[in-house]
Amino acid sequence: MKSPDPRTFEVKSFGCQMNVYDGERMAELLEAEGLSAAAEGEEADLVVLNTCHIRERAAEKVYSDIGRLMKRDQAPMIAVAGCVAQAEGAEIPRRAPGVDIVVGPQAYHNLPELVRQAARGERAFDTAMPPLSKFGALPARRKQGPSAFLTVQEGCDKFCTYCVVPYTRGAEVSRPFGAIVDEAKALVDAGAREITLLGQNVNGWRDGDGRGLEALIVALDAIPGLARIRYTTSHPNDMTEGLIRAHAEVEKLMPYLHLPVQSGSDRVLKAMNRSHSAESYLRILERVRAARSDIALSGDFIVGFPGETEAEFEATLNMVEAVGYAQAFSFKYSPRPGTPAATMEDQIAPEVMDERLQRLQAALGRHQLAFNQASVGKRAALLLERPGRKPGQLIGKSPWLQSVHLETDAAIGDLIEVELLSAGPNSLAGAQLMKVAA
Ligand code: 5AD
Ligand code: SF4
Repeated sequence: MKSPDPRTFEVKSFGCQMNVYDGERMAELLEAEGLSAAAEGEEADLVVLNTCHIRERAAEKVYSDIGRLMKRDQAPMIAVAGCVAQAEGAEIPRRAPGVDIVVGPQAYHNLPELVRQAARGERAFDTAMPPLSKFGALPARRKQGPSAFLTVQEGCDKFCTYCVVPYTRGAEVSRPFGAIVDEAKALVDAGAREITLLGQNVNGWRDGDGRGLEALIVALDAIPGLARIRYTTSHPNDMTEGLIRAHAEVEKLMPYLHLPVQSGSDRVLKAMNRSHSAESYLRILERVRAARSDIALSGDFIVGFPGETEAEFEATLNMVEAVGYAQAFSFKYSPRPGTPAATMEDQIAPEVMDERLQRLQAALGRHQLAFNQASVGKRAALLLERPGRKPGQLIGKSPWLQSVHLETDAAIGDLIEVELLSAGPNSLAGAQLMKVAA
């Protein structure tokens, strides 16, 4: 028997940071409707699974989660949100009859109404894709941690042949300048010291006046109380001169750039419809480094794209050596229904993908450790974000997005000056020098 009138909720987000943002907004919506977030360990009356469709494993996870929820003594009301909801729609309750609500990423402002419909036992599906209308319908931002996400752009027109995003998130749309700046101010008023501007193609953000992302960055730079600005994820083709210059000129813009390349082979890049070459990508990074010499570079890689030869994979390894990434994400190619690459010939055997991924990750891990080790001895500002494992310890982020733990009497949300003392592959240890801001 399901709870007919949910009073408590839990939102579980998977996938990208855009989903984290959407998950926070759904929580704010439900709270505005009088529901409260279930306490840690408490079984909520309503569970929102905010799903990701980017790779098969991510997409399948929702079904095992639903199965687990249905085994509870009191099964919750279950809402499937996010990109699986968009891609699979009415298929979901056919495959998992326990699902009460299906709501796509452009329709979640209707979640409260869908909950009411489901409570009445009605069909509660909404996968309409009206661009941006959700933003006008969401409640004000609430207090949260020192680092906040802010979605400025959604969707994608690039149609990389492996990718579901153009289908799940729709065409590229940019939120208006004023709405973004207002939301940024609300986040700062609620305690944010750092804002990460989000978009599937964030550096493709444009407004009606032809302004690009750098104009938003400059506007955020002027907000008192905001200390740090970041943005993710970017496409090489939208890395404009103006944005590169912002890395030299805007003090609050952090020295970090996530710029996916996917492969180091021009033949594979072409088959992926990436519309840049290995060489043109490297030229962009040269210009970025000329603007900001200490920039930490990050990227995404796919191994085992259909037809990828050993020599083409080695070109990816060469790319890794040429760039020296501070951090990176790497994946085995996963065929996605409806994408052109899914029906290409020469799909790569799983064991070949496993072996290539291992070699790639070993190389990336080596570079990440080297980058962290090269930071040892530096002084840096640290934004304290969460408690560490030991009492008296906090974990903060360096300008280069490294996690640094240290003993401190400062508080979460403080920016402190530290010296970086030692480095491992995933984090560093630091010592506090002095408080730079309260
Ligand atoms: N298979 C594997 N990885 C993928 N990505 C996107 N689509 C796929 C796919 N079908 C990766 C890309 C992208 C990141 C978000 O996920 O590297 O940049
Ligand atoms: Fe996953 Fe892409 Fe959807 Fe983000 S936008 S949740 S990465 S499918």
